[in-house]
Parts: sequence; C-alpha cells; structure tokens
Amino acid sequence: MLKKLVAGNWKLNGSLAANEALLSALAAVPGVDVAVCVPFPYLAQVGEGLRGIELGAQNVSEYGAGAYTGEVSAAMLVEFACRYVIVGHSERRALFAENDAAIGRKAAAAIKAGLVPIVCVGETLAEREAGQAMEVVGRQLAAVLDVVGAAKMGQMVLAYEPVWAIGAGRSANAAQVGEVHSGIRAWLRAQGVAADDVRILYGGSVKPDNAVELFAVADVDGGLIGGASLVADDFMTICRAAVVK
Ligand code: PGA
Repeated sequence: MLKKLVAGNWKLNGSLAANEALLSALAAVPGVDVAVCVPFPYLAQVGEGLRGIELGAQNVSEYGAGAYTGEVSAAMLVEFACRYVIVGHSERRALFAENDAAIGRKAAAAIKAGLVPIVCVGETLAEREAGQAMEVVGRQLAAVLDVVGAAKMGQMVLAYEPVWAIGAGRSANAAQVGEVHSGIRAWLRAQGVAADDVRILYGGSVKPDNAVELFAVADVDGGLIGGASLVADDFMTICRAAVVK
C-alpha cells in the first residue's frame, strides 16, 4: 500500500498573522506525508515555518518566462522550496476558464521543473446524475496524458474531487469514492501507466468525522483538504487518520 499524502488547500485564505497561528499548531505526522498548498505571497513565510511538512502552491504557469503578466513559473515555485502544486482545481476550471489542454500543459511544466503536480479531476452534479462521472474524469485525464505522456504520469499525484462535494459539508460516500478511484487506477493501467505507483487523493468535504472511513476505501491514497485544513486541530486529526497501519 502506498504511503498516504494529505495536502491542505488553503485556497484564497490567510494573512501573515493567521498563518503564523496556524503554522505553530501544525506538526509532522509519522507514517503520512503532509503538505500545505498556500497562496503565492505566503510561500516564503510558510516555507520557513513548517516543520516536517512539505510546501505547495495552488497554481502554476504553463510558461517558463517572458511577457506573461501575472503568471508564476514552476521554476519560481522550486526556488521557494515547493514540492507540490495543485493543477486544474475545479474552481480554476469553472471560475478562471482553465481547460483540459491548458491543465495538461501546466502539469507538464511542473514536472519538467521537478515539482509534483496534484492534478484535480471530478464531475459536476449534473454530470453525475447523467451517469457520466467516469466519462468526465477519463476525458480530463486523457487531456493530461496527451501532453505529459504515459512515462511521466507516474510523477504526479491525482486528486478526485467531485465538484458537488467541494465545500458542501457532505462528501461523496465510500461506494462512490471507491468506484471512481478504482476506475481511475484501471484507466491509468489501460494507458500503460505504472498505475500502482500513482497516489490518488480524494477531496471534497473531508472532515475529522469522515476521514477514517474515506481513507479506508481501496485506492484512496490520501486527501486534498480545503476548509478543514484551515483549522489546525481538524487538519491534524485528518492527517492522523491517514496513517497506514
Ligand atoms: P473542501 O475543499 O475540503 O473545503 O470541500 C476541497 C478542495 O477544494 O480541494
């Protein structure tokens, strides 16, 4: 079984003072990899304040350098000691018009610079109700595979985040999660990817009271945690739930 990864996604939250308070209450958890993905301006502060926890960002440019106002390159994130970067979160897809192909290019740029992209996939409620969850996820993955190639797919982390479960207070249930996670693993295998080495996180309303159940589902290799990652006790409880016994 893969060592699990629990990554906090702070989204557009934080301040120097609030981060300091949160950081002082975070600690490494033996047996699980822990990361926090923070807004760009806080990378330096958080990078210095973390003990045994890895650093990540929430977005990266597909471009390396040049006339791309407002962009942040993968090499810059490496300079600030990032190991991870979230790519293709559904909020970026929905609110910032990121499409499947651009997300593939961002994942490739991250890998090229030595970062581990956490590539997010997931269906909307309408797509789930239409019975298209796995089809949508397969399309999103295929766009990434097209750019990155099967040999390098193993250098990323995937996160299944059903859009309808994000920030909803209600996660997908264990059966729904298990079905898509095993579907993703099978899909990767069918494309010639070394699928057993790829960590597949679940994200969407993971909380202290459902983390144990969700992390016990086959093919769930950790979690991407939004709201609960801003509450130190909750995040630490979720991290401890991910220790592989
Ligand atoms: P949530 O967010 O845990 O607040 O549902 C998860 C995410 O968007 O990554």
